[in-house]
Amino acid sequence: MSKNLLLGVTGGIAAYKACELVSLAVKSGWTVEVVLTANATRFVGPATFAGLTGRPAHTDLFGDAMAHIQLAKWADVAVIAPLSANVLASLACGIADDLLTTTWMAIPRGRPCVLAPAMNTEMWFHPVVQRNIGWIDALGRYSWVAPTEKRLACGDVGVGGLADVPDILAAAESALSPPTSR
Ligand SMILES: Cc1cc2nc3c(=O)[nH]c(=O)nc-3n(C[C@H](O)[C@H](O)[C@H](O)COP(=O)(O)O)c2cc1C
Repeated sequence: MSKNLLLGVTGGIAAYKACELVSLAVKSGWTVEVVLTANATRFVGPATFAGLTGRPAHTDLFGDAMAHIQLAKWADVAVIAPLSANVLASLACGIADDLLTTTWMAIPRGRPCVLAPAMNTEMWFHPVVQRNIGWIDALGRYSWVAPTEKRLACGDVGVGGLADVPDILAAAESALSPPTSR
């Protein structure tokens, strides 16, 4: 069975943890393709992900005209970690204005999609973010690895930290192999 993990990385301080996620995933037998938003590249460069995956990291919607379709079809599981408030809003509203959001729009129906948000606590509890989470839930298309409560990079203590990397990978593993009991 193939284990193709499509990882989306957005522009948050936890983007560096996406490198740990890729490293752990590769060691666990996944083949990983990484898509970064333009703002994600301000935190971690594509070369780091290319080095960890052995494949070029993808950033440009128009660089390879069909990359968004090919990547979407290739994925056995699609994970966005960290998921910014901004891309969360795009997913909730159907905005597809860069490679990451366009690729996620093209992911075939029924393909598992896992979201691991991370943001400042006030951002997380902002009514518009909570509304967008509700809208995404209503789609029935995505599962969550919830943010944890911890001391955040901004110094605040509260909900919004990226879930632990092994927990995100475990969610991808279980999305790939759903329980067979029924
Ligand atoms: C140092 C720094 C840290 C940030 N951390 C986060 C974060 O953890 N979560 C978040 O949603 N936005 C965070 N932002 C704001 C995003 O970078 C900003 O909303 C950006 O537009 C997101 O772009 P993207 O969603 O296209 O990647 C941070 C910004 C800066 C400058």
